[in-house]
Formats: sequence, structure tokens, C-alpha cells
Amino acid sequence: MTDAHTLEIRDLCIDVGDFSVVDGVEFSIGRGEIVALVGESGSGKSLTALSIMGLLSGAVHQSGGTATLEGKQLDLQNDAAMRKLRGTALSMIFQEPIASLNPLLSVGAQVAESLIVHGRASSAEAWDRAVEMLQDVGIPAPDRRARQLPSELSGGMCQRVMIASALIAAPRLLIADEPTTALDVTIQAQILHLMRRLRAETDTSILIITHDMGVVASIADRVCVMYGGRIVEQAEVHQLFAEPRHPYTKLLLATIPRLDGARKQELFSISGMVPDASAWPEGCRFRTRCPLATERCATRPQLAPVGGAGRVAACWHSDKVGGLT
Ligand SMILES: Nc1ncnc2c1ncn2[C@@H]1O[C@H](COP(=O)(O)OP(=O)(O)OP(=O)(O)O)[C@@H](O)[C@H]1O
Ligand code: SF4
Ligand SMILES: [Mg+2]
Repeated sequence: MTDAHTLEIRDLCIDVGDFSVVDGVEFSIGRGEIVALVGESGSGKSLTALSIMGLLSGAVHQSGGTATLEGKQLDLQNDAAMRKLRGTALSMIFQEPIASLNPLLSVGAQVAESLIVHGRASSAEAWDRAVEMLQDVGIPAPDRRARQLPSELSGGMCQRVMIASALIAAPRLLIADEPTTALDVTIQAQILHLMRRLRAETDTSILIITHDMGVVASIADRVCVMYGGRIVEQAEVHQLFAEPRHPYTKLLLATIPRLDGARKQELFSISGMVPDASAWPEGCRFRTRCPLATERCATRPQLAPVGGAGRVAACWHSDKVGGLT
């Protein structure tokens, strides 16, 4: 692993109509680094990911910010330019597997597609690689399955097909949005292993979005915690688990059982819901739910260093987080 950044996101802002749903998100991912993006439903994780892929559409649009991939600024709103990068430099495993597969094309052809379209293999070679890849993601009888349509496969298998299409290109950056949520524990472990192998073999950088802190603990080097469209804490994974410095992170971790074998816990039973994007409070967006909130929190706290190793948190009272139970 080196210090060179594969991806740098600066001041990313995304609006839905008149409302800001992602507000000033900044993070970077080093070459061969695995960064997890965590946070409650609706906090803006998927939109952040989709914008990096240049896939925002309809009422959802980027209203500010930049993304740089290996030193080159991405033209996120230029569909033709982004399409050239998707499937080569950038790949994404989508949260909705079925919706992202073509219902009319065999799954083998879909997995092979990026190698063929970008001229990296002949049709026959790409097909063989696709069948191998389907085997790698745990699809039984991959030769036969490769010739089937998505409708002939279960939801979990479609998820694995999508994972296979994202991994086959060995991208510079892989974005995996809840990649293992629909899968049983054995297959989940296999997919995490494949991602680690991809990183080891090709130095691919990975942004993984997940609700499962067990997955975070097992695969991530660093974690970005999102709340209300903003990153509220960033830390190296062991630091974050050992000593969270934002109340939201602390509560997030407190809601999961200890890592004693229990898997797939439902997270986020923190009191109250994430407010709608139209109803976020002024200042710190967590203050309507925060046990440490004071009047000062009506002013927005910026991300600031809390301890070493580049860790940051956006909280006026981060020194009191340790006392929360
Ligand atoms: N196409 C859309 N049209 C309108 N609002 C949207 C759209 N997509 C997302 N939003 C809103 O933007 C906010 C962020 O959504 P996003 O999908 O990024 O959340 P998320 O963190 O990925 O949540 P989850 O964990 O449920 O996947 C939410 O309030 C959501 O309702
Ligand atoms: S700034 Fe205030 S409201 Fe926000 S997390 Fe910190 S203590 Fe809570
Ligand atoms: Mg999402």
C-alpha cells in the first residue's frame, strides 16, 4: 500500500430538487485501501457512490464538488466520458442487483461484457473468464448458469452475478454498495475474500458501503461515518471501534452486539429517525437526537482532527463522547 490516492472527493454536494441530501462530503481512498462508508438509511451513502460513477439522474443532481481518480479530475456530469471509465477504471456493485442486470442477456454475456467492450479479450476468452468468475463468486454449475437469463436465477445468485461483472474488470476503484446484504454467511465470506484477493493482486481501491459492522471490522482499513448527508467521523478501523469520537458513531457501535459470533445484526436502533432532508436542524444535523447536544450545537461543527493518524470528527463535544453509555 502506498500514500498515493486513487480517489479524492472534495466538497461533494448533491441536491434532490431544492433539498440538499449530500452536503460537503470529503474523503480519499489510497491505492489498495479499503474504506467503509457507514450510516443510517437515508444518510446519502448510495447517492455519494452513484455520483462518483457519474450515475446521478432525474431530480437528483450534483450541485458542487470534485472527484479525482489517480490524479485526474473526473467529469462526473459528462456521460460519455464517465461511460468510458465504467467497467474499466471504475466498477460498482449496486444495492439493487436485479434492476442493474439486463433481463434479455445471458448472465455469462453480462459478466463477459466489460472485457469485450473495452477490447481486453476476445469473445471466447471473455466467456471462459466469465465462467471462472461465476465459479469464484460461488455459483454452482457455472457453465450451465452462464447461459441462463437473470430471471432464471435467484436474487442471491443475481447479486453474485453482479459482483462477478464488477470484479472481472479488475478496476482501479471498486464501489460495493451493500454487496453482501442479501447473501448467506458462507457466500458473504467468499465475496469478502474475493475483494481482498482483488486488492492484493491488482492494488484495487475499494469503497464498501454496508450496514454490517461485522463486515466493516473484517475488511475495512478506514471508516467514514455519514449522518444527514455529511461525514461526521473518519478514522482507521481499529481506532473507530476502540474509541469513537462522535456521539453518533458511539451510539451506532453501541447498538450492535459484541462480535461473539452473532451475524447480520439489525443496526441503528438509535432513538428517533433520520429527519427528512427538508427538516434537518440548523447547525449539527444530529442535534435533535444527540444526548450531548448544547446550545453551541446550533452552529455547524466542522470536521477537525481528534487525535493522530488523520482521524477527524465533526462535534463540538468530541472529548465527552467517551463518557456516553
Ligand atoms: N431518486 C431519488 N429521488 C428522490 N430522493 C432520493 C432519490 N434517491 C435518494 N433520495 C433521497 O436522498 C437521501 C439519501 O439517499 P441514499 O439512497 O443515498 O441513502 P443511503 O444512505 O444509501 O440509504 P440506505 O442505507 O437505505 O441505502 C434520502 O433521503 C433519499 O430519500
Ligand atoms: S455537535 Fe453537538 S449535537 Fe452534534 S454530535 Fe456533537 S454534541 Fe451532539
Ligand atoms: Mg443506499
